[in-house]
Amino acid sequence: MPIPWASVLSGRRGKAENAVPAGPVAARAIGPAPEAPAGGETPEGTAVGAGMPAHGKDTAPVLVVNDLVKRFGDKVAVDHISFEVKPGETFGLLGPNGAGKTTTLAIIAGLLRPDGGDVWVGGHSLRTSRAQAQRLLGVVPQEVALYPDLTALQNMRYFATLRGLRGRERDVQIEEALELVGLREHARERVDRFSGGMKRRLNIAVGLLGRPRLLLLDEPTVGIDPQSRRHILDAVKELAAAGMTVLYTSHYMEEVEYLCRRVAIMDHGRVIAQGSLEQVRRLAGEAVVLRVRVSGIETPPEWSRLARETGCPLEVTDGELVIVLPDGPRQAPAVLNLLTAHGIPLDGLRLEAPNLETVFLSLTGRALRDGEVSTCGPS
Ligand SMILES: Nc1ncnc2c1ncn2[C@@H]1O[C@H](COP(=O)(O)OP(=O)(O)OP(=O)(O)O)[C@@H](O)[C@H]1O
Ligand SMILES: [Mg+2]
Repeated sequence: MPIPWASVLSGRRGKAENAVPAGPVAARAIGPAPEAPAGGETPEGTAVGAGMPAHGKDTAPVLVVNDLVKRFGDKVAVDHISFEVKPGETFGLLGPNGAGKTTTLAIIAGLLRPDGGDVWVGGHSLRTSRAQAQRLLGVVPQEVALYPDLTALQNMRYFATLRGLRGRERDVQIEEALELVGLREHARERVDRFSGGMKRRLNIAVGLLGRPRLLLLDEPTVGIDPQSRRHILDAVKELAAAGMTVLYTSHYMEEVEYLCRRVAIMDHGRVIAQGSLEQVRRLAGEAVVLRVRVSGIETPPEWSRLARETGCPLEVTDGELVIVLPDGPRQAPAVLNLLTAHGIPLDGLRLEAPNLETVFLSLTGRALRDGEVSTCGPS
């Protein structure tokens, strides 16, 4: 039977769960989100005094990242970034390899100390109340962190105990989390027999223990099979529908477009765009995107030369040439002439409104994903 996450997270607990004695753990575990943080500290408390923006109680952001900086030697991995995540939203942090996403998440999780700025989780400053902030978090790291020679259930029990869960509450939460990621049937199998996708799903289940107010997901779908990816996307949607606040990191723009209404795009440690999907798409201005299939071409042109000649950012991805026309459709005739001159057949050609990937391409001249040809025309 599916676990009623919506009722669990919103505090409308079923009969069996009501039987759980209300100890400190059980009390904290009833869903994300009493708006006033645990521990007697009000959202306005020390945090506002320490510089956190003031908000009404109901709309107080679950996460505030303010002017965050992190350096590794000379490398500035996180360069004065700021964003907020509101209660119940799935916020997308999008960026290519090395953009600084994992470093940002590690700071939010309290695993790395920033060199500047601060983070508030549920009103608790990481600088002044790290333990309280961490208690509200569930962290799903980019690298799978599980014991391979234990079963899924043994892993869950181990991490649940670390999280302070005991007895029936522990078992209920383990069952819910395994159900949500579609692994309940595999609970008694050893993790080293799992596919990569199943391990990632179990990694997520571990992050859900304790029913965190804020779930940090670091690229949870990289390199996995389509079925596991589907499970993960559905699970995040279900959690979001139940009111959990999620920070979702990815370099797959289509996932972020599917899950999130607000996003921040990072590049070289900076946030280069943020806002609602609509606002971010508008940053492409009048730009439209031209797509032409190029997989069958015997002698493809030199793409960087084509970019120079057209003056447009372009990339080749999945056998398709994607060209951003910054000035809109009126640029199309000249560009199409050039494509024809380079022997590119125009059948199946499409003109589209920009998506996040093409916004990134048009802002940076580079592709979001590694291994794809991308190049920028002269500005
Ligand atoms: N411990 C470290 N020591 C030195 N440099 C680091 C360290 N951790 C990260 N970096 C560097 O900081 C930058 C940001 O790395 P980070 O892992 O945060 O990027 P990312 O956006 O998560 O990338 P990916 O998509 O590949 O996971 C990179 O240039 C990386 O090489
Ligand atoms: Mg990363």
